Amino acid sequence: MTIKQIKTGFDNFSYIVYCSDKKDALIVDPSYDASEAIDSIKQNNLNLNYVIITHFHFDHTKDIARIKKAVPSVKIIASELDGKKLNEKVDIFVIDKQRLKLGNIDLQFILTPGHTPGGICILIDNEALITGDTLFIGDCGRTDLPGGDINQMFKSLQEKIKPLPDNLIVYPGHDYGEKPFDTLGNQKRKNKTLIANNLEDFSKIP
Ligand SMILES: [Fe+2]
Repeated sequence: MTIKQIKTGFDNFSYIVYCSDKKDALIVDPSYDASEAIDSIKQNNLNLNYVIITHFHFDHTKDIARIKKAVPSVKIIASELDGKKLNEKVDIFVIDKQRLKLGNIDLQFILTPGHTPGGICILIDNEALITGDTLFIGDCGRTDLPGGDINQMFKSLQEKIKPLPDNLIVYPGHDYGEKPFDTLGNQKRKNKTLIANNLEDFSKIP
């Protein structure tokens, strides 16, 4: 399993995930410009199966159309709540804990509302966790935009993210931290939004 982190726009991250054996690939969050992701897929002779949208915000989804044009057979994946807000047709609406295979890779979707009502994280082979705007390195996604909910964010972090294994590598949706990715174990120890273990403390974080 290979994950390639691609910085696009100012501080957005897109990802390519692929199975080297079966040559199957997916893109997470095309963001503003998917050209580098599409070129990398071509150069590595990969078959692009899916585009996964972690949440509906424009800075994560703008370039879906370019991918659809390059690979018309690609399937778009999102949660129902966020997927319905996209201009493009979503092919697969996923629910919490749903699993999917990509070549030999196991994917599991985790519904983590808070930043948006239908935000998802993607667990990959029990090795990596793509977190969109739910969890950043050192912070979490904002909850003051339309559809954001601080109670739901606290619950998602405490009940969905914190129980996951320490060895996972967290790959966030933006380059906001002191490094572009980190282990979940480090984040459980250092990230103020995971350390706060009650809603009152959590809501006081600036
Ligand atoms: Fe966002």
